[in-house]
Amino acid sequence: MEQTFIMIKPDGVQRGLVGEIIGRFEKKGFSLKGLKLLTVDQAFAEKHYADLSSKPFFNGLVEYIISGPVVAMVWEGKNVVTTGRKIIGATNPAESAPGTIRGDFAIDIGRNVIHGSDAVESAKKEIGLWFPDGVANWCGLSQ
Ligand code: CMP
Repeated sequence: MEQTFIMIKPDGVQRGLVGEIIGRFEKKGFSLKGLKLLTVDQAFAEKHYADLSSKPFFNGLVEYIISGPVVAMVWEGKNVVTTGRKIIGATNPAESAPGTIRGDFAIDIGRNVIHGSDAVESAKKEIGLWFPDGVANWCGLSQ
């Protein structure tokens, strides 16, 4: 079954949006397979966003991600990568539709509350990075 990596960023955690965000994925029907609250260091954030290292906003993005705890999650279900991105909304909150997480809770592209994998391949890579020991199986035991 398809899985995706979802991260509630420091602004989402600080603003108390964790329950709201988890609720949206749960109510859609997706299954939560992994969840942890953690603060990552610069090297880890740079690895997660390695594909963006040439972008002018890269340093600011890394600084933002390490500024406080994040909630890292693995969600599972049919088409969860694409549908998860729809639930999250466009990267720039100015373009994300009302009813999406960013459309409802964000204004600034640099503080856009949540990250979701953009493809099945990147989801596999990100899940491997954030959950190196694997995630829960169907009966809740660690693999
Ligand atoms: P995310 O879905 O985590 O993927 C890459 C992140 O880079 C994105 O959300 C934004 O937080 C950030 N980002 C993308 N474009 C810009 C930009 N123009 N300025 C600042 N941050 C950006």
